[in-house]
Amino acid sequence: MKSTEQKQWRRTNYCGELRAEHVGQEVALLGWVNRQRDIGNLVFIDIRDREGVVQVVVSSEAKDLLEEAKKVRMEDVAGIRGIVRERAEKMKNPQLRTGEIEVEAKEFEVLRPSEVPPFVVADPPQAQEELRFKYRYIDLRRPSMQRNFKLRHQAALRARNYMNDEGFYEIETPFLTKSTPEGARDYLVPSRIYKGRFFALPQSPQIFKQLLMIAGFDRYFQIVRCFRDEDLRADRQPEFTQIDVEMSFVGSEDVFRVIEGLIASVFGLIGVDVLRPFPHLTYEESMNKYGTDKPDLRLDVEIIDLTDTGAQVDSEIIKGALSAGGELRGLVLGKSGNLSRSQLDKLNQKAKDLGAKGIVWIKRPDGFKSSLKISEENFERIWERCGADKGDLVLLVADSKDMTLRVLGAIRQEFVAQQVLGTESYKFAWVTDFPLFEWSEEEGRLVSMHHPFTSPVEEDIALLEKEPQQVRAKAYDLVLNGVEIGGGSIRINDLNLQKVIFKTLGLSPEEAEDKFGFFLEALRYGAPPHGGIALGFDRIVMLLAGEETIRDVIAFPKTTSSLCLLTNSPSNVDDKQLENLGLKKTKA
Ligand code: AMO
Repeated sequence: MKSTEQKQWRRTNYCGELRAEHVGQEVALLGWVNRQRDIGNLVFIDIRDREGVVQVVVSSEAKDLLEEAKKVRMEDVAGIRGIVRERAEKMKNPQLRTGEIEVEAKEFEVLRPSEVPPFVVADPPQAQEELRFKYRYIDLRRPSMQRNFKLRHQAALRARNYMNDEGFYEIETPFLTKSTPEGARDYLVPSRIYKGRFFALPQSPQIFKQLLMIAGFDRYFQIVRCFRDEDLRADRQPEFTQIDVEMSFVGSEDVFRVIEGLIASVFGLIGVDVLRPFPHLTYEESMNKYGTDKPDLRLDVEIIDLTDTGAQVDSEIIKGALSAGGELRGLVLGKSGNLSRSQLDKLNQKAKDLGAKGIVWIKRPDGFKSSLKISEENFERIWERCGADKGDLVLLVADSKDMTLRVLGAIRQEFVAQQVLGTESYKFAWVTDFPLFEWSEEEGRLVSMHHPFTSPVEEDIALLEKEPQQVRAKAYDLVLNGVEIGGGSIRINDLNLQKVIFKTLGLSPEEAEDKFGFFLEALRYGAPPHGGIALGFDRIVMLLAGEETIRDVIAFPKTTSSLCLLTNSPSNVDDKQLENLGLKKTKA
């Protein structure tokens, strides 16, 4: 039919909703052609919409329709009117939710033909990410993507309803603002009116939400986009979404209670019964046991401090490391004593890539086998101390404390992920008592581990001047299965303490005034005690959806090299635009 004759189609049902209970009903469907099979006197067309796929049959009883149906191509937009029929028993497809039925076409129209698409719409995806991102609107037609964005919408809705029920107001904060340091670089926006001056896109609404507490709103939240110019990974994007929360007159336990309820509500969406309260572990415990501040607790495997045992072992490698002030730590990989030589070599290489000199392995098929030459008695001692069983693999690293934890932590994380593959388990934990500061090699100064508005633990305030790295923060991260899904703290509401923190960070009073004067001033006018948190919404949806990367739950993500391949940005702008902004290009 010609497009000029197109009637106004209206759907009665989504394709993916049709079931045996609809048999006998006349339905009108609108969607995209997923697949067409022409077997002569019958044409099968699978039509897809956001709820799923249904099979449409066009038979030779309707000659004109059959001719039309034969011409149909993948991704054409089509309208169908037909009767829902039960499929013959042997034609039923249990793999498909609509597999018990099909729709016998009475009317059929291609509303808009499609050119041959650059790839087939199918799960798992058939094309490389680059091509899929260029044609993201086609990639998003995949059923798994349609599911992910439905889930994202429902998760946001649950979060909003829950926060509303808990008495929080959603209040918007500016995108054009002044740089608020959160550890990443800012995206800057040049001002046309005030040439040479810049807004920054917010890395988070941190200062604004604290101002809202000073303003008396008591309980604020916002589902909000944040912008950070940093190196990307599977769980990082330059623009991402937070569920940002702030509360007045609270301690960390109040924040925990609200957030645990929020998480229970959101994870209820996928039928997870979230156990509350979440376990707590301090930063130090987490580092010592798991070699990371975002431990994956789905397996009960811990790094073991073997420094004492190591001192009694007749190995030059171990002795050398210990006498240089290092430590010996071990890890037992259960039932992994059968790892091949090349798999063990890979572990050794991984340790080297992380900066260690290498890793020692010990197996005990009958007698001990190891990459280390020591006496039987010493093997026995280590094996005992590790509590290893026959058939296990023991790994040892002798190096600086940090290095032993870094290497064994990374190997542990990989091992746990492998072991739990395909199982559904959600292990939440709060990691608390972070150091307030850490040393930045890059900047050659102390930097805040979270951000400079984080309150120190009271009893450590006395250490601020002399031993700042010993000061613990009233900061907490929320971790799920090895992913940091949130971070927050109780804040400083005392002007003098805030000034001391800026000073410890190496900011002169003038610099502090220039960057944060407006905020320091606000602290003079009755700032209540307050605290909060921000949850990484993309990461939460990724885990809800069972995806490996947040790119699969962001409709139009950037690549890992920070490009938008769909719009081809960042892009050049013309000289006129630059001139308006008072900017000039220099050669890159
Ligand atoms: P933080 O910097 O820890 O805290 O961020 C909070 C959470 O946001 C998520 N997240 C990201 N997700 C995707 N891409 C990124 N580039 C990215 N960066 C962070 C993480 C993280 O736990 N203002 C403070 C919060 C507060 O103190 O209340 C803040 O932004 O899941």
